[in-house]
Amino acid sequence: MFNYYNPVNIIFGANTFAKVSKVLENKKYIIITHNEEYFNQYSNQLLQSSNPPIKIFNQVLPNPDYLDLLKLINQFSSCDEKIDSIVAIGGGSVIDSAKVLAAFKSNKKLLINFVREKKIPQIDNPLDIIAVPTTSGTSSELTCWATIWDKEKNNKLSLTDKSLYPKKAIIDPLIMIDKPLGLTIATGLDALSHSMESIWNINANPVSASHAIQASRLVLDNLLLLSKDLRNIELRTNIALACVHAGLAFSNTKTAIAHNLSYPITLNYGIQHGIACSFTLPIITKSMIGIDKIAEKRLKLIFNDNLNDASSKLSEFMASLEVPLNLKEIKVPVQKWNNIVDDAFLGERGKNFIGNKEAFISSAKSMGLY
Ligand SMILES: NC(=O)c1ccc[n+]([C@@H]2O[C@H](COP(=O)([O-])OP(=O)(O)OC[C@H]3O[C@@H](n4cnc5c(N)ncnc54)[C@H](O)[C@@H]3O)[C@@H](O)[C@H]2O)c1
Ligand SMILES: [Fe+2]
Repeated sequence: MFNYYNPVNIIFGANTFAKVSKVLENKKYIIITHNEEYFNQYSNQLLQSSNPPIKIFNQVLPNPDYLDLLKLINQFSSCDEKIDSIVAIGGGSVIDSAKVLAAFKSNKKLLINFVREKKIPQIDNPLDIIAVPTTSGTSSELTCWATIWDKEKNNKLSLTDKSLYPKKAIIDPLIMIDKPLGLTIATGLDALSHSMESIWNINANPVSASHAIQASRLVLDNLLLLSKDLRNIELRTNIALACVHAGLAFSNTKTAIAHNLSYPITLNYGIQHGIACSFTLPIITKSMIGIDKIAEKRLKLIFNDNLNDASSKLSEFMASLEVPLNLKEIKVPVQKWNNIVDDAFLGERGKNFIGNKEAFISSAKSMGLY
């Protein structure tokens, strides 16, 4: 028996951004985005439509911090009109900020209680979210959780509620055409990590796994080519599609050990999320050999039936994208790393992992992580 669920209406394809104003007919909405020229062009299109936004909040910064989210809630509470929808135009940071606002609206006490008192909020009637992703990485447009960073307390939280799935995800690969190289690689690897993490996962099921296999293959077949041809719309579309499959996979399983290892590396060593959550993938892949027949079969479908070579193939793929693959390159001291590993295996996402710490450590040593 298994149970698969994802309620997001996906509207996918080049020029689908043009459909946003149709979706918003008769809605009272705000826009959440970044204050950058690139994003303003999209907000401006909606400003000029027959039903413009009530307000635009464009102060979102990457990796939304608790204090900035409090400010966002404050600003929202000054809206005089009753709002029913949020249009989020941006990557995971913008879409996650939209989820926090959708959940808490003007009530900053709920956010304070959640982040600082660890009180799980009762989320009543959240605002509708129309997500327009611009990064092809996090798949936040297809999940019901938001990452909140509490930099002051060196912490990271996940706000999760079934009511926080966006109503619609409008995925237009043309919006991603100007993504710079570093962001393209990091977000593409984030999608790869989500899909592989949903395979070595206690929550995996046949539907999530089939999306995960599709997603992984699409990233492996297209990301390197895209890194050499950034404005190629066909490759951008394939990576955007990979991200859809990855989202449909891990929205049902959550992530696992690679993500739990990544959070302190992002918080304490400033490594971009997509790199931090993917540099361990070859090691984890190797550590999975002999652990679980079903997961092995699924991993084999990604790597042309050869699991023994999979970890070195994956290392080669990542090396060709010039991402750091060892502790020296990511500048994490070995002692700190050992603590990160211990904590990660004990954490919630670590417990989703069907492998084990001993096999992980032995595979890390044999693959030259230290
Ligand atoms: N909710 C989820 O399901 C989920 C899953 C994984 C990660 N996350 C979170 O998402 C955040 C990371 O999101 P992200 O990787 O999408 O990056 P991001 O949203 O943080 O964006 C990174 C930078 O890229 C720029 N950018 C975005 N789109 C662009 C475009 N099309 N062209 C040029 N520049 C562009 C932005 O201005 C920003 O400065 C992290 O906080 C992470 O924890 C959420
Ligand atoms: Fe991620």
